[in-house]
Amino acid sequence: MNRILGYRCTLCKKEYDYGPELMTCPACGEKGILDIVFDYNEVKKVLNRETLKADGDNSMWRYRALMPLKGEGLSKFLRIGWTPMYESLRLGRQLGLDKLFIKDDGINPTASLKDRASGVAVAKALELGYDTISCSSTGNAASSCAGNSARMGLKTVIFVPERAPMGKVAQLLIFGANVVSVRGDYRQTFELSKAAIDKWGFYNRNAGINPILTEGKKTVALEIAEQQNFEPTDWVAVSVGDGCTIGGVYNGFYDLKQMGLIDRIPRILGVQSEGCCPFVDANGGELVPTPENTLADSIAVGVPRNPKKAQRAVRDSNGRWLAVSDDEILAAMRLLGRTEGVFSEPAGVTATAGVKKAVEMGIIKPSESVTVISTGSGLKDVNNAMKAAGEPFKCDPDIKALEASGRIK
Ligand SMILES: Cc1ncc(COP(=O)(O)O)c(C=O)c1O
Ligand SMILES: [Zn+2]
Repeated sequence: MNRILGYRCTLCKKEYDYGPELMTCPACGEKGILDIVFDYNEVKKVLNRETLKADGDNSMWRYRALMPLKGEGLSKFLRIGWTPMYESLRLGRQLGLDKLFIKDDGINPTASLKDRASGVAVAKALELGYDTISCSSTGNAASSCAGNSARMGLKTVIFVPERAPMGKVAQLLIFGANVVSVRGDYRQTFELSKAAIDKWGFYNRNAGINPILTEGKKTVALEIAEQQNFEPTDWVAVSVGDGCTIGGVYNGFYDLKQMGLIDRIPRILGVQSEGCCPFVDANGGELVPTPENTLADSIAVGVPRNPKKAQRAVRDSNGRWLAVSDDEILAAMRLLGRTEGVFSEPAGVTATAGVKKAVEMGIIKPSESVTVISTGSGLKDVNNAMKAAGEPFKCDPDIKALEASGRIK
């Protein structure tokens, strides 16, 4: 593939040819997370403003030239990406911002941004001739892996921590995955999946390790830029667990900058929950394992597997790390739903809570433009939605009783 020059280790910076597929740096082992290095001059020949304008493919595959794939059979996939970009009508004003956009990635086939990474992983597994793909996940990577695999006829073995919400587990079971619900936290779930992948030789979709997953997630940034006519907002806010998504957001903007399609990379606001915020605690330094005490289950990751790419995203974009409380997350769920009609799961709305706080703290100025990514649908976790929203008003089936209640004015 002449569009790809090779791999570069994020740790020791050693470069490797793009020949046999690598998972991690052979010199550094598991901690040596790899970047894929593109030849942007080659990519530009097939992916530029003109080709994009002419491309009728309204999915993330419109950016296939920036992915490490041969690119065959992609039109058969579920439709991943090209999710809505809403200019805020009310939320921005409530937060004190002149210009706010909401990128709703809950509108993906299995209802989260993770479909972007799973799509690329499934395509790669098929390209390499695997019949089974496996991952550990707090929920969404798992359900997206299972759904996209079901569509393309791959078998799945999925490891989830016992605490994964039922909505996500239901998705897995409906998609026919072989589900292993692990009595332990996410770290233990990850370790068990790793051992199983080593033992049975499945294709490894673990986001912390497999470098191609960032290349799927980065399509959200490519879309943000294209949907904003290649003049992205000053800030982009995203919630952070393992760190793979925020790493992908940066990579997408980085690619576009290298190709001369954008002039600057937006400042990236990485938002975590106070109950589990190793990146915020580290503030660019060494990460220390933390407990996983948050209702935002998808970002309850005490030992992130992708720290280098995540920290680079914030550092090199001149961004910020910020933590919000669970109460602020629940409040943001209500706020986003009521002001814009977007229903986001707790981890999906954590970035919105972060933007609110960042404006209050003066980190984001009212005149600065912001894109907030909603990374997953609220329907996945109805229990927490009810916690945020409260119980409905109950009434006898009687118009007089309804009138007497004073509920409707
Ligand atoms: C809805 C949602 N938001 C945010 C994230 C964070 O992504 P990452 O773990 O790659 O940092 C996840 C990860 O599972 C997620 O499911
Ligand atoms: Zn290395």
